[in-house]
Amino acid sequence: MGEERLQKYIARCGVTSRRKAEELILKGNVKVNGKIIKELGTKINPEKDIVSVNNKRIFEKANNIYIKLYKPEGYVTTVKDQFNRKTVIDLINIKERIYPVGRLDYNTSGLLLLTNDGELANKLIHPSYQIYKTYEAHLKGNISSYAIDKLRSGVLIENYKTAPAKVNLLKAGKVSIVEISIYEGKNRQVRKMFDAVGHKVVKLKRTVFGTINLKGLEKGQWKYLSEDEIKLLKR
Ligand code: URA
Repeated sequence: MGEERLQKYIARCGVTSRRKAEELILKGNVKVNGKIIKELGTKINPEKDIVSVNNKRIFEKANNIYIKLYKPEGYVTTVKDQFNRKTVIDLINIKERIYPVGRLDYNTSGLLLLTNDGELANKLIHPSYQIYKTYEAHLKGNISSYAIDKLRSGVLIENYKTAPAKVNLLKAGKVSIVEISIYEGKNRQVRKMFDAVGHKVVKLKRTVFGTINLKGLEKGQWKYLSEDEIKLLKR
């Protein structure tokens, strides 16, 4: 964005109306980069200039949307499906356009973030930022500690060695339950990792994405992230 008239900027930040902003400027209550500005036509650069009203810095109102959804099984993680299957967007009745951050398989349930903040979305899924995603996997068969160690140090999936994972055995038995945290996001990665150590995943649920968890959500429900959740995620 280029330059903008000071009173318009103040209004856009949600401080007050444009007319009231003009009054504030005339009264000397507005500073730009620490200097009182009383001329109404003054242009500022919203990306560079620091504007304060009554000695308090003001910020543009974010119109970005951040949502967490408890995705049920049986939904595709796309905006539109070529086979007309139900999509995660069908579960969220808002008018703004939002996009899923990464993907959960059709048969995977759990935490999915959605946003219109493309920049943050890219960071959250790019492996170089090492944002861990945690999954609870139900597996066929009793998993050995040897297999768990292999998962921790990395396994080969289609000639690709996975990065070290955090792995906890939650329950041993005919069906084992394992918690696994990874920061990569290859297609069907968790299922393939367990396949690589000889265990089929029969049920998969994502419980954590970075600093966000499923707290307060029932399957199929969604919420806007709180200010605190957004702040933590952006850090
Ligand atoms: N890994 C998988 O195998 N499936 C998912 O849905 C997510 C991660």
